[in-house]
Amino acid sequence: MRFLITAGPTREPIDPVRYLTNRSSGKMGYAVASAALAAGHEVCLISGPVSLAAPEGAEVHFVESAREMYNTVQEKINAADVAVFSAAVADYRVAEEADQKIKKSDDLLTLTLVKNPDILGNTRSEFGFEGILVGFAAETNDLEKHAASKLTRKECDLLVANDVSRKGIGFECDENEVILFYKSGESKMLSLSSKTDIAIELVSEIDQLATR
Ligand code: C5P
Repeated sequence: MRFLITAGPTREPIDPVRYLTNRSSGKMGYAVASAALAAGHEVCLISGPVSLAAPEGAEVHFVESAREMYNTVQEKINAADVAVFSAAVADYRVAEEADQKIKKSDDLLTLTLVKNPDILGNTRSEFGFEGILVGFAAETNDLEKHAASKLTRKECDLLVANDVSRKGIGFECDENEVILFYKSGESKMLSLSSKTDIAIELVSEIDQLATR
């Protein structure tokens, strides 16, 4: 099958030298890309800025902002059978990017933020994607409740949820522990393991979904 995978953070420019971003390392998405390639799939990886080597054999597109990621996904998604959205897309961007470096002046500087487009949330409705759709959810509380609602709202087949309030898993770490929530209502825990192993199990779950 052909996988489209989003990975890493996005960068939302404030001025030519500054941006807003988050702590995503891209490791989970890159691990899913490598696992999919190892399982014999084709991979189109749409990546925000990360300091990781591109998996050999993947078609890689580097983007910076959420809007660039949105446009690239829109362009590429309909060639995919499976879409895995592991990127930590910034929810907001600065309303007006300054053309020149913002100078220090007053003690208080106010930035107005506007909402970014929801890539995953538009995948079914706007892009018309009919393949297997896998979303991620990083939550700090009420993991199950938020994951179940995200799964339905964003029309996913599978949602991978992790509790980012716990130390040692998730953001910036090499390990993860996740719960898989399926559209069917089933769930399955993938207990504490390297992101490489979690990704291998996730790709195997996706392979099983494809044969159902
Ligand atoms: O930010 P949130 O928890 O809603 O993200 C859930 C899922 O939606 C993740 O899979 C993420 O990659 C995706 N997402 C997206 N575009 C956004 C925000 C989130 O594709 N603007």
